[in-house]
Amino acid sequence: MIRFRDLRPQHRELRDEIREALDRVLESGIFALGPEVAAFEEAFAAYCGATSAIGVASGTRALELALTGLGVGEGDEVITVPNSFVATAAAIRSVGARPVFVDVEPGTLTLDARGLAAACSDRTRAVLPVHLYGHPASMEPIVAFARERGLAVIEDAAQAHGAREGGRPVGSLGDAGCFSFYPTKNLGAIGEAGAITVCDLERDAAIRPLREWQGSAGNNARMDALQAAVLGVKLRHLEAWTEARRARAAHYNQLLADSPACTPLEREGFRHVYHLYVVRVEGRDAVAKAMAESGVETGIHYPRPLHLDPRFADLGYTEGDFPVAEAAAREVLSLPLDPAHSEATTEAVASALLRALARG
Ligand SMILES: Cc1ncc(COP(=O)(O)O)c(C=O)c1O
Repeated sequence: MIRFRDLRPQHRELRDEIREALDRVLESGIFALGPEVAAFEEAFAAYCGATSAIGVASGTRALELALTGLGVGEGDEVITVPNSFVATAAAIRSVGARPVFVDVEPGTLTLDARGLAAACSDRTRAVLPVHLYGHPASMEPIVAFARERGLAVIEDAAQAHGAREGGRPVGSLGDAGCFSFYPTKNLGAIGEAGAITVCDLERDAAIRPLREWQGSAGNNARMDALQAAVLGVKLRHLEAWTEARRARAAHYNQLLADSPACTPLEREGFRHVYHLYVVRVEGRDAVAKAMAESGVETGIHYPRPLHLDPRFADLGYTEGDFPVAEAAAREVLSLPLDPAHSEATTEAVASALLRALARG
């Protein structure tokens, strides 16, 4: 059985380093914020090419605090994409604003800047592109549009630690970058955690106090010191893991090159970090079922775009509104990809997919 995800091998490998970090926190007696969080924030900001990072309790909290800190609130509109994890649009909602969706580019399935003008109204305050699966959205036209209209740009980089556009890391491309360290992420905690990166100290000052009951809309979003200590250990390995992910993705691309499966695009000048390796296939559900029968678990990210999700029914969208995102929802299939996988695992997954496609 090839599981879609198995977080155990990584932690077995790092057990000694992690135990040492955990012991250090136990000895310090400081379990929320404090020096471990400050040290991780500094290292993570440097990794992202940002001025500072603000450690918080989750990626969702990162989005909420970034929105609030950049002045988004009740009655405002925020432009984002319908094909993301629910947290993206839910965070917009939870600060009292309304998500306004635009369709995505067919190649990378990230925000298509050509849709921005039509989605913009006099209530629009921010644009929130998602670096889906680990490929950065095309930030240049998005930032140019936002600057022209005086809108904030918040990157949802929850899936894209270390991804780059034109050599510049995500998290440094807009006004604030929001990261998740949920355990399955490329940089994952052993619990929940997140961070916001900024390239401007004024923005830092507007956002940072919100995580501990300060500021107009304060709340508890503090980062856990144990998570920060573990993340500090893992950050030292992240580049090697990312290169391993990229090598496995290249191997998949080669094995699937002549098949009917459409392999993921890495746009010229961008660095994809393959949080997910997502192919597109016709008859996706039957293909996934056949692969499961031959012992390969797969995933679907995401089976239903948010504009058709009953939780957002009141926004008034209908089927047909975002054809690119809707077609993707029918065809996307995430294959197992892990830095710890052997070449034989990649080959076994690819063969199972090719057999399933041949059956169809
Ligand atoms: C695109 C995206 N945005 C936001 C989040 C929310 O992060 P968290 O689960 O840490 O709250 C996630 C992941 O879970 C995500 O994949």
